[in-house]
Amino acid sequence: MISKATIDTVFETARVEEVIGDFVNLKRAGSNFKGLSPFSEERSPSFMVSPAKGIWKDFSSGKGGNSVAFLMEHEKFTYPEAIRYLAKKYNIEIEETEQTDEEKANTDVRESMYLVSEFAKTYFHNTLLNSEEGKAIGYSYFKERGFTNETIKKFSLGYSPEAWDAFTKEALGKGYQLDFLESTGLTIPREDRPFDRFKGRVMFPIQSMSGRVLGFGGRILTNDKKAAKYLNSPESDIYHKSKVLYGIYQAKQSIAKLNNCYLVEGYTDVIQFNQAGIENVVASSGTALTPDQIRLVNRLTKNITVLFDGDAAGLRASIRGIDLILEEGMNVKVCTFPDGEDPDSFAKKTSYEDLIFYLENNAKDFIQFKASLLMNEAKNDPIKKADLIRDMVVSISKIPDRIQREIYIQECSRIMDISEQVLQSTLAQLVQKEVNEVDKKQKQVQKAFDFVKNESTNPADKVDSLYLFEREIIKVLLLYGNKTENFEEVLMKANEEGEIIEVSEMKELKIFQKIYLSLQEDEVEFTSPIFKEIYGDLINYYLQNEDSGVEKYISHLQAGVPQEVTSIMMEDEKYVLHDWIGQNIFPKTKEETLNQSISDTLFTLRWFLLSEIIEDLKNAVSNEPDSDNMESLTMVMNYIELRGKFSRKLGRVVVRYH
Ligand code: CTP
Ligand code: MN
Repeated sequence: MISKATIDTVFETARVEEVIGDFVNLKRAGSNFKGLSPFSEERSPSFMVSPAKGIWKDFSSGKGGNSVAFLMEHEKFTYPEAIRYLAKKYNIEIEETEQTDEEKANTDVRESMYLVSEFAKTYFHNTLLNSEEGKAIGYSYFKERGFTNETIKKFSLGYSPEAWDAFTKEALGKGYQLDFLESTGLTIPREDRPFDRFKGRVMFPIQSMSGRVLGFGGRILTNDKKAAKYLNSPESDIYHKSKVLYGIYQAKQSIAKLNNCYLVEGYTDVIQFNQAGIENVVASSGTALTPDQIRLVNRLTKNITVLFDGDAAGLRASIRGIDLILEEGMNVKVCTFPDGEDPDSFAKKTSYEDLIFYLENNAKDFIQFKASLLMNEAKNDPIKKADLIRDMVVSISKIPDRIQREIYIQECSRIMDISEQVLQSTLAQLVQKEVNEVDKKQKQVQKAFDFVKNESTNPADKVDSLYLFEREIIKVLLLYGNKTENFEEVLMKANEEGEIIEVSEMKELKIFQKIYLSLQEDEVEFTSPIFKEIYGDLINYYLQNEDSGVEKYISHLQAGVPQEVTSIMMEDEKYVLHDWIGQNIFPKTKEETLNQSISDTLFTLRWFLLSEIIEDLKNAVSNEPDSDNMESLTMVMNYIELRGKFSRKLGRVVVRYH
């Protein structure tokens, strides 16, 4: 593990504009920098970097964060990878925290295996390009396949000499240990003389998302029927076949940018597509797709297009893999190629424009595809066909969009040769069943509600308002958390006559203290999970750093969290970008009236959260109509009374937002 001290140094050293400047052409705009978004195609800049705040914001995609978040988003690094990258960029020595001996041994082993694999990649690549045998056999083979030098470099393709142990000898000579040569599978152990697994093959290094070499695929060049055409590295501590996708390193940026991923079968398909100009392509390398592989893609896009060979033999088996993709909540399209063609052969003889045209016009939605495929099989079997129809309607009923459902019904009707009415009524039955269930629940709730009549609130408004108020609190905390203000405190006191009266006093508090104390008093929690998390982090931060601004907090945020934070922090910069001041789209919190607006916001938030509690209690009451509800009902009454008091006091605010 990287030590906390190293991470701190990295954050203190890294300048957000320098880090991003390596990837995006930035131009000065006032105290900020702007540029074209690296996450979408655009002509006018909507990408903003604020050196003072240490953050960036991409207004076209909504993404934003600190330097590390940028690297994680743009380079698809993990958090430690991003830290290591920055440490290297700024020449910061990485200090590792103490590990147990076992952990240390494991890390050392894996690290050594990575090193050996990296060496092998370079060795095979150099052999391909520089040795007589490599040039004559390997290089000319790739040329024949139509691969350019650029492609050969991009994928670090290589050649392993025909000799029995050429690679192993070289590696041992360079000081690599036989242990690691064997555990990576590059060398096959044999007592008298260990030998090269991949001898006489052209080599395809398999890389992780961040570019580390995990293993290899090697293709034989002779017509030896007994030897496998492709040989892969065995499973090892660094190579888990089910968790890698070939080509992901070269494809990740394009996948994220184009928001789609093509999935093909093998190495040559990936490479040929890249050469044709399509980079958002990965291969599962022979095996059926696994959930881990799907999740790898899911980090980059929700859309997968699966490409199948012309021959239909493998299709049936592949359908199961596609169901898995759907289960992960991804949108799946399917595209087949003409008979006898695979993505490799098709891409090789097709121009970029024609290839794109073909893919766009032949990619079918998975549901349509499945219907036509299964229909072919069930054509003459009425029982199978009935099952299939029900199967398809269930799938369609899961689609939330009504228009989309309608289109699928029409499409399936055509494909399965059955009337739309039958499909519609089957669908209607399914939907009705769900509606009935919801109805039943609602009637129960209604009945219970009659016990506790009160002014009702529109739930949608309430959710939106709550979100806005919670956001407002976060915004105030971010922008003014450590500022000191005078706040009006209302206290209950007894006067000389012994009556309880309300007395207001002015009290000086830091803004974060005021917010923290008010919310803690009510024991309220934010409803938005993201704001709840940010709120907790921010309060903790201010409690520990009473004199610091918020910049330090932001620089330490890990990616994922800062989306909402950057939006808030960069709202002002948006004016610079789009000159929207006149349109007053994002009214600023005016510092002059800060205490008043904070008090208002806090009161209103409490009012809403109180409503939440009331709502919850009411639901609890209505969900258990048989149990003794008196206690809960009394609580509801009390809360409603309290809220009533609140409303009268806050009349202005509540009315305005409600
Ligand atoms: N593949 C594999 N193992 C095999 C055969 C194929 O992993 N035994 C994968 C490879 O990744 C290859 C893809 O499937 O890129 C396509 O297979 P195939 O067309 O048979 O391989 P090619 O190298 O294209 O062979 P050919 O020149 O005969 O088409
Ligand atoms: Mn082929």
